[in-house]
Amino acid sequence: MEYRELGSTGEMVSEIGLGTWKYKGGPGPLHKGIELGANLIDTAEMYRTEDAVGAAIKDRRDKVFLATKVLGSNLRHDAVLRAAENSLRLLDGDVIDLYQIHWSNRSVPIAETMGAMEELVERGMVRHIGVSNFSVAEMKEAQQAMTKNPLVSNQVLYNLKNRQIERDLVPYCADNDITIIAFTPLADGSLAGRSRFLPDRRGSVLEQLAKEVGKTPAQVALNWCLSRPNMIVIPKTNSVERTIENCAASGWSLTTDQVAMLDNAFPL
Ligand SMILES: NC(=O)c1ccc[n+]([C@@H]2O[C@H](COP(=O)([O-])OP(=O)(O)OC[C@H]3O[C@@H](n4cnc5c(N)ncnc54)[C@H](OP(=O)(O)O)[C@@H]3O)[C@@H](O)[C@H]2O)c1
Repeated sequence: MEYRELGSTGEMVSEIGLGTWKYKGGPGPLHKGIELGANLIDTAEMYRTEDAVGAAIKDRRDKVFLATKVLGSNLRHDAVLRAAENSLRLLDGDVIDLYQIHWSNRSVPIAETMGAMEELVERGMVRHIGVSNFSVAEMKEAQQAMTKNPLVSNQVLYNLKNRQIERDLVPYCADNDITIIAFTPLADGSLAGRSRFLPDRRGSVLEQLAKEVGKTPAQVALNWCLSRPNMIVIPKTNSVERTIENCAASGWSLTTDQVAMLDNAFPL
């Protein structure tokens, strides 16, 4: 497993993290991922998987960089503090390594929310502050509203079929040392050779390339995301075998030509 720096924090997080939306795999897949070096586990108050994550990592908390999120509907000052307390209770822990705002909420002043996030850092309940589904403009506002902490990450949709963030968010994050945590990197499994696999030319390009490099389509789709700067991916799987497969998407690189071939087959 290869690691990338989270923002400019000096913290190294695995290129392949473990997503847990709709996660029903029990402790096995998470344990296997951790054993293979995947240290970042992503959950959220919305997912109702914080308790399962907390139980799975109880005896190996030191090997995990734990990320969770506050709902976009909980962004008033007191609601943020309550949500973090509740998440910590469900996670059965003392500190959240990365606390992310799940989505923005125009009805709450951003300064109020970011103030609460900074208070959580001061209290020692949160180590780093991130966002999710934020535009570049929203990221700038969030950063400006903070006085003591950098914004270290933005968790956004990114995969071969959804490349919109390349227009502005990818270069902005690269220029400002902000990690992009790519969610749904397998396009919900449709890039991973399963039943809803792409039936068109795009699917055959991906399959053909996977054969050429001796990897699976899922591994190629994940590795293609990692060709981008400042990016890590957080595929979700309920299966130990697919956890092993996904973790092996790290530790090697598609060539520039192979990346370009995929860029052409899956245009922006
Ligand atoms: N911040 C946000 O708003 C947001 C939104 C969506 C997701 N997320 C985060 O991103 C994570 C991942 O996104 P996602 O769950 O939407 O989609 P995803 O990771 O792109 O795809 C998950 C699907 O792919 C299947 N899969 C995984 N690995 C596979 C493999 N190697 N071969 C074949 N199938 C495979 C899984 O099935 P099995 O489980 O049966 O293997 C599942 O059906 C989430 O769990 C969550 O942590 C964040």
